[in-house]
Amino acid sequence: MRIHTYEKLWLVGALVLIVGFIATVTYGSVGLGISMIDDSGGTLSPNAVDDDGRFAEPRVEQVGENEYEAYVVASQFIFQPDPIEVPANSTVTFYVTSADVIHGFSVVGTNVNTMAIPGEVARLTVEFDEPAEYGLICHEYCGAGHHTMEGQLIVLPEDEYEPGGNA
Ligand code: CUA
Repeated sequence: MRIHTYEKLWLVGALVLIVGFIATVTYGSVGLGISMIDDSGGTLSPNAVDDDGRFAEPRVEQVGENEYEAYVVASQFIFQPDPIEVPANSTVTFYVTSADVIHGFSVVGTNVNTMAIPGEVARLTVEFDEPAEYGLICHEYCGAGHHTMEGQLIVLPEDEYEPGGNA
């Protein structure tokens, strides 16, 4: 069978595009290490967040020299603690859950972004190098006050940080 030269070129071009599309989709879903929220951070009863040792008192806890854990509860229409205070040059693991409906937990201007799902705990680890103030927003529609649901994440200079200063 004889194929015209231009037709061959178009065939090759189309194949390259198909392979390219498959490669980019595969890379985007697997290669970047982005994962959906799951129960790897543990589960809890959404009706008993107050009884759960981790979330009864939303807080930031020091767990290593420069390592902190933040236990954050989202509920209509606040984040707790607010503000969340952590020191600069720290690695912070956030554990985020919801006490009522699905909320979002997004640190504006960063790639820190997860859903807060009742009964599940989202876990994400972030490094904060420089002092900064970030806005926190809920980006999942959660009710009449959704658009007012916001908070603050403050990265303090190390010498100004007081452990347990989060209310
Ligand atoms: Cu909480 Cu929208």
